[in-house]
Amino acid sequence: MDLAGKRILVVGGAGFIGSNVVDRLLKTEVAEVIIYDSLVRGALRNLADASSDSRLTILDDQPDIRDLDRLTEAMAGIDGVFNLAAIGIVASNESPEDAFTINVTGNWNVFRAAAACGVQKVVHSSSASVYGQPQIVPMTEEHPYNNRTLYGANKIAAEHLLLACGELDPLEWVALRYFNVYGPRQDSKGAYTSVLHKVLDRLEAGEPPVIFGDGSQMMDFVHVTDVARANVRAMEADAPSGFFNVCSGTGTTIREVVAMLSDLTGIRIEPVYREAAIPANLVTKRIGGPEKSAELLSFSTGVSLEDGLRSLVEWRERSRATATTGS
Ligand SMILES: NC(=O)c1ccc[n+]([C@@H]2O[C@H](COP(=O)([O-])OP(=O)(O)OC[C@H]3O[C@@H](n4cnc5c(N)ncnc54)[C@H](O)[C@@H]3O)[C@@H](O)[C@H]2O)c1
Repeated sequence: MDLAGKRILVVGGAGFIGSNVVDRLLKTEVAEVIIYDSLVRGALRNLADASSDSRLTILDDQPDIRDLDRLTEAMAGIDGVFNLAAIGIVASNESPEDAFTINVTGNWNVFRAAAACGVQKVVHSSSASVYGQPQIVPMTEEHPYNNRTLYGANKIAAEHLLLACGELDPLEWVALRYFNVYGPRQDSKGAYTSVLHKVLDRLEAGEPPVIFGDGSQMMDFVHVTDVARANVRAMEADAPSGFFNVCSGTGTTIREVVAMLSDLTGIRIEPVYREAAIPANLVTKRIGGPEKSAELLSFSTGVSLEDGLRSLVEWRERSRATATTGS
């Protein structure tokens, strides 16, 4: 889709990734970007920069994706939809009922409202959680669903509802399977990448970072501005509907990340290792295969882990300064 002159709805657009998608979208020639977000987790401050652009509209009734009529109303005349609304791994375990009604039924509402309103394309946020523990590394899009979590189960369901919706109606779609997303505006309460915030919290408090197990757990970190670019590329690309990894293709151990954060902050405190209650379903070696996205979406990550971590450290400093001065 050529974004010039298009009207785009960003569902979950006030969140960590969604607000970065909005920033990226506003660098194109879109006519209008509309935010549909209940603000259950995101925040309007994430859209502070974007708000100065007259093409941005934030629906101010905190609309919920569980409300199909409201979604259908919001999608009238919309060309493309980015769907980022979901609750995360920890919240899904705490509230299984909400997890299902938001991450499955609510997401299904987004897809069928889009189809009913004649939206051309939906770019949906899925997750590498659908893969679970790797049977083979790197994990390409062909990797089996080996998930054991409620969150992953709901993500798998949503992927298939989108696929089925695209069979029933002339709806183009892309489901992006994000790996370990990190960067500015990241909340500190996730099960995976929040490890970065926890390590930084400890270092800044003059305390040793805690590494659970031997620190050899591997993650495939992808910076949020790369994820935002992947979303916009997915909307623009003339690619067949399907599932696409958003990953770097490189694994980094927790030990390595802690060392990098020590170097970046200049706070060198040896980590302590603890025997941990590491959840049985925590993926210990997550590395994605980036080839399909490179070939069909012309997307590859561009932000190095060092530059990306620096952006996170600097954002934390700016946020603290703003909180202190109130400006
Ligand atoms: N952050 C990651 O590392 C990661 C990894 C893989 C997949 N994802 C997926 O990417 C998407 C965005 O994640 P994020 O990290 O930006 O999360 P986030 O919580 O920051 O953003 C989600 C947004 O959706 C909104 N929302 C939630 N429930 C809603 C509802 N019922 N109605 C309307 N809006 C609602 C929230 O208010 C929030 O602004 C999610 O689908 C998530 O599952 C994230």
